[in-house]
Amino acid sequence: MLTVSKLSASYGAIQAVRGIDLQVKAGSLCVVLGSNGAGKSTTLRSIAGLHRPVSGSISLDGAEISRLPLHKVVRSGLALVPEGRMVVAPLTVEENLGLSAFAGRNADPELLDKVYTLFPRLAERRLQKAGLLSGGEQQMLAIGRALMTRPQMLVLDEPSMGLAPSIVDLVFQAIVALHREGQSILLVEQNAAIALSVCDYGYVMRRGQIVVEGTPDALKQNPEVLEAYLS
Ligand SMILES: Nc1ncnc2c1ncn2[C@@H]1O[C@H](COP(=O)(O)OP(=O)(O)O)[C@@H](O)[C@H]1O
Ligand SMILES: [Mg+2]
Repeated sequence: MLTVSKLSASYGAIQAVRGIDLQVKAGSLCVVLGSNGAGKSTTLRSIAGLHRPVSGSISLDGAEISRLPLHKVVRSGLALVPEGRMVVAPLTVEENLGLSAFAGRNADPELLDKVYTLFPRLAERRLQKAGLLSGGEQQMLAIGRALMTRPQMLVLDEPSMGLAPSIVDLVFQAIVALHREGQSILLVEQNAAIALSVCDYGYVMRRGQIVVEGTPDALKQNPEVLEAYLS
């Protein structure tokens, strides 16, 4: 279980995240909605050890991770799929997947197999350079790379960004399949309709704060959510 409590994060004088609380229970798929600049990515980057929060606590199964550097957060079982994917363009698909193997070890063939089963397109393109993949394939690769660390908590920042609707469907089918297998997932999305169709619980962020939270059914009927995100 991931528990974020009273988390605040800043960029100089900009208070990007202001005292938020959220929880992702083991095996659940939790979504954070919010428009551009709401503080979603800063929240995820803080959770993943890429941005040092000003205050608050972040714990994974009771262990505090908020002051750990990125590689130690990964070791403790949390993997971030960053906004904009960040695959290594000159390396092949398979080399990108191998990057996550802990120092000096080869990629676990069973895990590699699992990623290729989840994303058959990656298997077809395993020797192609990542920079030559489509946006959707790069997103699949970024998710696959995170899965190679065998995360107990998978954190995704706007996986649908910039993708054609048919590709968004493919990526979300994979997210749903992972959730069905029991993978715990924290997902940030601007596409509220699709996010609320797959999640167990959702939060809405605005100007660095959580303004509404609830089950997807409740959120779909919340007037604020309807007006801002589902109209
Ligand atoms: N690297 C940065 N330097 C300065 N300000 C930033 C930086 N990243 C984000 N911000 C600011 O922090 C706020 C929240 O940004 P962000 O977390 O990226 O929002 P979201 O992911 O919801 O679009 C915004 O006001 C944004 O301008
Ligand atoms: Mg963002």
